[in-house]
Amino acid sequence: MRRLPAVSAGLTLAALLVALPSGARASAGQASAGPAKEPVAVGTGGAVASMDLGASQAGIDALKHGGNAIDAAVATASTLGVTIPFVAGPGGGGFMVIYLAKTHQVVTIDGRETCPGACTPAMFTDPKTGQPLGYDYASDQPLATGVPAMVATWAKAISSYGRGSLAADLQPAIAQAERGFRVDADFQQLTESDLPELQAYPASRALLLTPAGNPLPVGYLLRNPDLAKTYRLLARYGPSYLYDGPLGRAIVQADDHPVTTAGTTVAALPGIMTMSDLRAYQAMVLPPTRVRYRGLDIYSMPPPSSSGSTVGEALNILSGYHLAAEPRAMALFHYLEASRLAYADRDAYVGDPRYVGVPLSGLLSPAFAATRRCLIHNQALASPAAPGDPYPPFGSCPSHNPPQAAPEGGHTNNIVAVDKWDNIVAYTNTINFFGGSGETVPGYGFLLNNEMTDFDFAPPSPGAYDPNLPAGGKQPRSSMGPVIALRDGKPVFSVGAAGGSTIITTILQIILNHVDFGMPLPAALAAPRVSQTNSATSLAEPGFYNSALAQQLTSRFGEKFTLATGPILPLDHYPGDATALQILGHGSYEAIAEPVRLGGGSALVVHPSP
Ligand code: DON
Repeated sequence: MRRLPAVSAGLTLAALLVALPSGARASAGQASAGPAKEPVAVGTGGAVASMDLGASQAGIDALKHGGNAIDAAVATASTLGVTIPFVAGPGGGGFMVIYLAKTHQVVTIDGRETCPGACTPAMFTDPKTGQPLGYDYASDQPLATGVPAMVATWAKAISSYGRGSLAADLQPAIAQAERGFRVDADFQQLTESDLPELQAYPASRALLLTPAGNPLPVGYLLRNPDLAKTYRLLARYGPSYLYDGPLGRAIVQADDHPVTTAGTTVAALPGIMTMSDLRAYQAMVLPPTRVRYRGLDIYSMPPPSSSGSTVGEALNILSGYHLAAEPRAMALFHYLEASRLAYADRDAYVGDPRYVGVPLSGLLSPAFAATRRCLIHNQALASPAAPGDPYPPFGSCPSHNPPQAAPEGGHTNNIVAVDKWDNIVAYTNTINFFGGSGETVPGYGFLLNNEMTDFDFAPPSPGAYDPNLPAGGKQPRSSMGPVIALRDGKPVFSVGAAGGSTIITTILQIILNHVDFGMPLPAALAAPRVSQTNSATSLAEPGFYNSALAQQLTSRFGEKFTLATGPILPLDHYPGDATALQILGHGSYEAIAEPVRLGGGSALVVHPSP
């Protein structure tokens, strides 16, 4: 589901016009004119950045129609479910970090999927062998689908902090789904990355593939009347249409009794979801994490996200170095080692706090960070590095056997939005892998997530403690969690990213690039990435892997790198794409998206500066 062969040759529009899918009701036509996709926009009145032009435009439209940043984020996220259904939409979940200008408060919304009530710690174990299932195999199964949380998150955000309504905020997405959009090369690549799973389900084939089961050709006008209908029903009846109504029943039916293409071997383990699981789902408002870094207050997501605690711990470790004054190779060595150690603690201690004790204040304590910093000398530590002891009083450099975290991959997206009142929303959301489980809910036009494989499949050793084992109602640990930075109580910037476990390192590296190395945010985002997640090597994009800095890090500090590459770069094994926002003051904003990764994102403002 993630391996992406080179895009099929010969997928031309002309060749495929003879065989268009029925479910998508596609037609040939001209792309609608509009603003171009640009990675940076500066102006007033509010701003939005996302992976996609149509989605960012939906957010801008919400702002223009009187909505605030919360409304804009929901409009953008729901539209992304139309235009990039492989990473977004009603079948997934995510986390929002929100700055409320009126009260100068940062709040978060935990919109993470939950495991159905029948989940057990052994659910991803092969009963025949007693061994954990293969990660990719398990991720293809309907069993990997958690209770979809996106709609509850949108509704919670709007009712708590929005100016509009769910019905109003879904209108741009409804229009986009009806109007359709042009398939481009990125969309085609994303389809390729999930092709066997999409082919396994007639409903996914009908929506996203040609009748022969190939990706849609570039230039094809893809409409999704089923998703337009779904959004219209949600607009009319509210979230209960999903959580206690016909849409919920369709989701449960699709998950537990999947209709598959004859002969497919992909979907072998059906889901275990019930209507009670859906009825029990609640998106939760939670207090953010906060650490001080170079005079900034850095806010992010608390558990079950590991972003706030891991970014926070790494920044606390790095606070002990004057990175700006260090030679760049040494500063990056400190970054890689801080990240390695913070990841060791993440894997050992972070899980759903409603089920396990998470020592969050210890993980975020500068005194605990000092016990970790003292492990960093002048050579790369061996991985897996052991976790520290985040329970006060903090000792010095403790160690014990580290648990192994499950690998993570797939894809997600980060949306940033600001309104003219300076409210800010940073929203990372996903259906997990590109294409989630691959299953489209028949008649409703969206893919289901495969988020439950973010749980560990087994403890590090039989009977050992593991905070991230599955259980009924539990949320798997996540790496998703954008950041909002304040200085003297005023918002300065926000950044968030996609990319599984590299989300955390991408955010960290962008903060260092910007705050310590003085890069403007667009350059900080674009710079080549390197990600250390307590693994033997750090994953490096080619621009980093082939740099003199990488050579110095290897020769002087013993760092090792794996090249993030292949025929599919940047789609597979790549440190994910990011979006950011800079508050320029006096009502001006800079929205920033990727210039290149994943074909580039889209930054827009309400009133562009001349
Ligand atoms: O929650 C998480 O951390 C992941 N399931 C998010 C998915 C993701 O970022 C994969 N992206 N490339």
